[in-house]
Amino acid sequence: MQVAGIPVLTLSTTFSAASDSLKIKQVEEQVSALRTSVICAFNQLLDLKDLNTGVHSTRLAEWGMRVGQELGLEEPVLQNLEIAALLHDIGKVGIPDAILRKPGKLETEEYALMKKHPEYGWAVLRMLPGFERAALDILHHHESFDGNGYPAGLKETEVPIVSRIVSVIDAFDAMVSSRPYRKGLPFEEAVRRLILASGTQFDPVVVQCFLSFARTEMADVFAAAGTSVGSAL
Ligand SMILES: [Fe+2]
Repeated sequence: MQVAGIPVLTLSTTFSAASDSLKIKQVEEQVSALRTSVICAFNQLLDLKDLNTGVHSTRLAEWGMRVGQELGLEEPVLQNLEIAALLHDIGKVGIPDAILRKPGKLETEEYALMKKHPEYGWAVLRMLPGFERAALDILHHHESFDGNGYPAGLKETEVPIVSRIVSVIDAFDAMVSSRPYRKGLPFEEAVRRLILASGTQFDPVVVQCFLSFARTEMADVFAAAGTSVGSAL
């Protein structure tokens, strides 16, 4: 209803607005629940493929959110960061087990196939409504800050911030985690290597941000558990 062209709120329009806002809230909750279910389902798939990968992803999500919050990222970006950290390696389901589980160095053509996993992950996740942005972040999680990464050879801020964060924490976790064929690096050695590659492979701001809490909060855990405690975190 309008008076002199001005909308007038009546009891029925007020009820209607309240009902609309309730419906929007319900839809938002349903979308959020669906998003969580999809993440859980894919995480279970990762666990089935490689027992360590799911645990590794959960750890990355915790570290990623810390870095993202410290950097002051907006809530929608943080949501994508959580998805990208949890599912960054989902494309590995498309890599043959013989390559995924091969102890030691990969042959050139095996490595070329392994490098396809960011594209495989992007190809799957971009199909899901609400996961399009995280799919792009996953596509670029192996780019290098100096442009020497893959698949696109993006450099510096061309690389999405979420991808730059996942790159740092993924590399750190890989260094400190033990594998059947090798022991994880001691905490301080992993920190040293991260700093060494800061500005070349890694975004120095992200490295600094990660180390600011890793040093204070993780060093003791590593020290108490010995050298290679990737599985203890
Ligand atoms: Fe990866």
